[in-house]
Amino acid sequence: MSSFKGKRVAVVGGGSGIGRAVAESALKQGAEVIISSRNAAKLESVAESRTGMTVLPLDMTDEASRAAWADRLGPIDHLMISASSAAHGPFSDLEEDPLRAMFDAKFFGPYMTAKAALPHLCDGGSITFFSGVLSRRPGMNCSGLGAITGAVESLTYGLALELGPRLRVNCVSPGMIRSDAYAAVPEAAREEMYAATGGSLPMGRVGAVDEAAGAALFLMANSFRTGHVLDVDGGHMIRQYATR
Ligand SMILES: NC(=O)c1ccc[n+]([C@@H]2O[C@H](COP(=O)([O-])OP(=O)(O)OC[C@H]3O[C@@H](n4cnc5c(N)ncnc54)[C@H](OP(=O)(O)O)[C@@H]3O)[C@@H](O)[C@H]2O)c1
Repeated sequence: MSSFKGKRVAVVGGGSGIGRAVAESALKQGAEVIISSRNAAKLESVAESRTGMTVLPLDMTDEASRAAWADRLGPIDHLMISASSAAHGPFSDLEEDPLRAMFDAKFFGPYMTAKAALPHLCDGGSITFFSGVLSRRPGMNCSGLGAITGAVESLTYGLALELGPRLRVNCVSPGMIRSDAYAAVPEAAREEMYAATGGSLPMGRVGAVDEAAGAALFLMANSFRTGHVLDVDGGHMIRQYATR
């Protein structure tokens, strides 16, 4: 295992949710951390008064933004990309535009961002992507998002082969995690959703951002782990099938 002391860690999606938890934990463990996403003000409020944490705005879906981000990045040991956006809807209703936007934000964005960061990743470093349980355990009205998470996992396997032994490439697959991702859902409906999903899991609850962050930090730190998709899902993969 390697420690984070003296390492430079770039967290794309570090302004909220699981990414923020990873950034804060890596900083506590001695890393210098660069947090990125589109909303600079949100990032500044996270980094404020945290010595060793800096802000580098990025829209992963925008080529010019990726180029400017990579120019200012400097050498890094670890790149972690939790940033994404997701849309749901029945196959028959979900329009092409939101589906393509979701692929841009959760697949092509991370793909192109990792490519832009490649020359800046130090030997022995790592890339960590995020997929989600839908890749292997489908949910109703989530076929598009499921396909995208599957693509992220396939990319992980392929890149681990191609970029090794210089770099390791892994992926975290979270189940439902209480995070800013659900901030737009009204509180009562959100709690109902957490209770319903949590109740269907062997763990009897949904996860916390620190639990998902711990999986990402483990993948970054373990120097013999590559090409691995790590589930952190409360047992989602073995839960009972839902009824229609
Ligand atoms: N939470 C869950 O239940 C769950 C379940 C399964 C999988 N996952 C996956 O786990 C990962 C982390 O989820 P989370 O809950 O931490 O999500 P989150 O809190 O919503 O964070 C996502 C981040 O992505 C950033 N972002 C979105 N589009 C971007 C873009 N084009 N360029 C740069 N940044 C962008 C957003 O910040 P800005 O608005 O500032 O850009 C936001 O900070 C995601 O890949 C998600 O799909 C989560």
